[in-house]
Amino acid sequence: MTSQTTGTAPTAERRAHPLVRIEGLHKFFGDHHVLRGIDLTVNRGEVCVVVGPSGSGKSTVLRCVNQLETISAGRIFIGDELIGYREHGGRLHDLTPRQIAAQRREVGMVFQRFNLFPHMTALQNVIEAPVQVKGVKKGDAVKRAHELLDRVGLAERAGHYPSQLSGGQQQRVAIARALAMEPELMLFDEPTSALDPELVGDVLEVMKDLARSGMTMMVVTHEMGFAREVGDTLVFMDQGAVVESGHPREVLGNPKNPRTQEFLSKVL
Ligand SMILES: Nc1ncnc2c1ncn2[C@@H]1O[C@H](COP(=O)(O)OP(=O)(O)OP(=O)(O)O)[C@@H](O)[C@H]1O
Ligand SMILES: [Mg+2]
Repeated sequence: MTSQTTGTAPTAERRAHPLVRIEGLHKFFGDHHVLRGIDLTVNRGEVCVVVGPSGSGKSTVLRCVNQLETISAGRIFIGDELIGYREHGGRLHDLTPRQIAAQRREVGMVFQRFNLFPHMTALQNVIEAPVQVKGVKKGDAVKRAHELLDRVGLAERAGHYPSQLSGGQQQRVAIARALAMEPELMLFDEPTSALDPELVGDVLEVMKDLARSGMTMMVVTHEMGFAREVGDTLVFMDQGAVVESGHPREVLGNPKNPRTQEFLSKVL
C-alpha cells in the first residue's frame, strides 16, 4: 500500500482498515477505576484527537496503547496483533519482555516534556534508537536523521544540544526521534502544552505535515484548530469513559452531550 507515504488513497479504502482497536478497556490503579470500558477505533492514515478534562484518563489510554501501563481488562489490537498478550486455547498469556519491546517499536510517542538525552546533540538523539535498538548502520542512521531534522525544520540545528534549543525546537527533535524508528502509529500526549505560545505553531505545523503524509496518529491536545484542520475523529472523554465522538466539525460545532458542551465552552 502506498497510502502511508503518499496520503492519496481514497478515504473509503482507508476506512476499511482499522489500525488501532481498543475494546472494553478498563484500568485500575489500586481501587481507583480510571478507565471504565473504552471502545475506540483509529483507522489507518487517520488522526484521532482526544480531549477531555484533567484526570479523565486521556494519558492513561495512550500509555496503555504504548504498553507503558498494563491493562486491567479488555483488549487492544494494533493491526492484527493483540497488544501485550498472546491468545492461545481461549486464554491470554503474557508476552515476553522481548516480544513487548518488538511491539513497542511500532509505536512512536511524544510527551509534553520532550525527554531528550541532554548530553547528546539533536542528531545523536535521533540516531540513538535506530542504531542501538534496531541495529541500523550508523552511516544510514545519520543520513536518515538529517532528512528527518530537515523535515521538522531543524536541518541547521543537528549539532546543537537540547540546552541550546528552544522548547519548540526540542519538541520537534523529539518528533524526529520518534519517526526515526519508522513507527506505524504515533501517539502525542499534549505535545504543545508546555511550550510558550509563540513556539506552539511550528510544532503543530510539523504534526499537520505528518498527518497529511498519511501517518496514523492519536493526539491528546487542547488545540481545537489542529483538531478541526487535520482530525478525522474527535473523542471526548470524561471520568474514564468516551462520552462523545465523531468528526471534529460535528463534535465542535454541535456537541450533543451536556458534558461535552460544558467542556468545549471552556476551551473554545
Ligand atoms: N500511575 C498512577 N497511579 C495512580 N493513579 C494514577 C496513575 N496515573 C494516573 N492516575 C490517575 O488516573 C486518572 C487519569 O489520569 P490521566 O493522567 O490518564 O488523566 P488525563 O486525562 O491525562 O489528565 P491531564 O489532562 O491532567 O493530563 C487520574 O485520576 C490520575 O490521578
Ligand atoms: Mg494527561
